[in-house]
Amino acid sequence: MTADPVKLMKQEVGKAAASRVTSGQIVGLGTGSTTAYAIQFLGDRLKSGELKDIVGIPTSFQAEVLAKEYGIPLTTLDACDRIDIAIDGADEVDPQKNLIKGGGAAHTREKVVDYLAQKFIVVVDGGKLVDRLGSSFLLPVEVIPMAIAPVMRALEGLGGKVQLRMGVKKAGPVVTDQGNLVVDVKFESLGDPVGLERKINNIPGVLENGLFVNCVDVVLIGEIKDGKPIVREM
Ligand code: A5P
Repeated sequence: MTADPVKLMKQEVGKAAASRVTSGQIVGLGTGSTTAYAIQFLGDRLKSGELKDIVGIPTSFQAEVLAKEYGIPLTTLDACDRIDIAIDGADEVDPQKNLIKGGGAAHTREKVVDYLAQKFIVVVDGGKLVDRLGSSFLLPVEVIPMAIAPVMRALEGLGGKVQLRMGVKKAGPVVTDQGNLVVDVKFESLGDPVGLERKINNIPGVLENGLFVNCVDVVLIGEIKDGKPIVREM
């Protein structure tokens, strides 16, 4: 049986990011299937003794569960004054290293942690690279429930086609770790991510949107070359 190439790319890139963490660091733990491998490899390095005294700050319930499973001690932003390094996935990456995130509805906490990190490493497979953000992925926006109707109208006013994200194996909408709702927005042109990020976050009732601009230090890309998974840095 041939191994799933996407899984292989995610594993390799997750491992490459985890190998950049050094002993004593406070590590932002991202969300999603690619970062899950980084969390697993961090746990392996701790277990083998190669890495010592790291603590993680999870960006979601999922990251917290994985960190506990792989033996990574956790802390909170109340208890520490810095994050040395954050590792997180993305749904789209443009040539300027700007991102769309939020496919897992975790972008609000991810933004808090990733923006605080002294070094923010993004881990993706090659399929996430785009020339322009919004090409293939809708922009997630977290909204407090009582404001959902006016926020959807305001996003339409900005030229977006808006849909409320619905649950899978759950009747009704997706509810975030903060108890809010998520809408996914299609914009015809997402040519000014800096301006759009601000405009959306200025709508009353919006908690956070999934545009991550001018915040990424390193993008690691998993690819398949000659039938083998490789990792390159953007
Ligand atoms: C979570 O809300 C997202 O921002 C994820 O980081 C993003 O969707 C990447 O996930 P995968 O690594 O599973 O593609």
